[in-house]
Amino acid sequence: MTAPGGQCEVSMTVNGAIRTVRVHPMERLLDVLRQRLGFTGPKEGCGEGECGSCSVLVDGMLVNSCLVPVLQVHGASILTIEGLSQGPELHALQSAFLQCGGAQCGVCTPGILMAAHHLLNRNPQPTPEEIREGLAGNLCRCTGYAQICEAVAQAATRASTL
Ligand code: FES
Ligand code: FES
Repeated sequence: MTAPGGQCEVSMTVNGAIRTVRVHPMERLLDVLRQRLGFTGPKEGCGEGECGSCSVLVDGMLVNSCLVPVLQVHGASILTIEGLSQGPELHALQSAFLQCGGAQCGVCTPGILMAAHHLLNRNPQPTPEEIREGLAGNLCRCTGYAQICEAVAQAATRASTL
């Protein structure tokens, strides 16, 4: 796997497709996704694991991709915000965020949606308190969280009535 110049080949599945990149093993997953693979949905806010803007799922676990050396995800399956919808069809969470006004700015929203997706995967019918806890790692610096939490609750209710 190691190549000249200290680089290595890392393969991972991103949104269902296998991708192989030649990188320095300590390159951040966030940078590899954005700069090498073109998945610009995950955003850099703080760059130190505090804001959740860079959230993605790695093998179903919610992670801050700004903290993950890319070598750690060799062989893993990554889901970014780009993989949430099915083609042009919005994911139920995305529709609920639109309807409730939960989608605010482009920096925090992708990470919040990934955290909400992770929450509903584990707990399809969360209480309001559990929704707030599930999104606790995702910060918005400019507004409130009421519509965001309402959107997650609405998506959960819709899924339960399908
Ligand atoms: S940019 Fe990764 S947690 Fe803030
Ligand atoms: S940081 Fe995105 S709406 Fe405030």
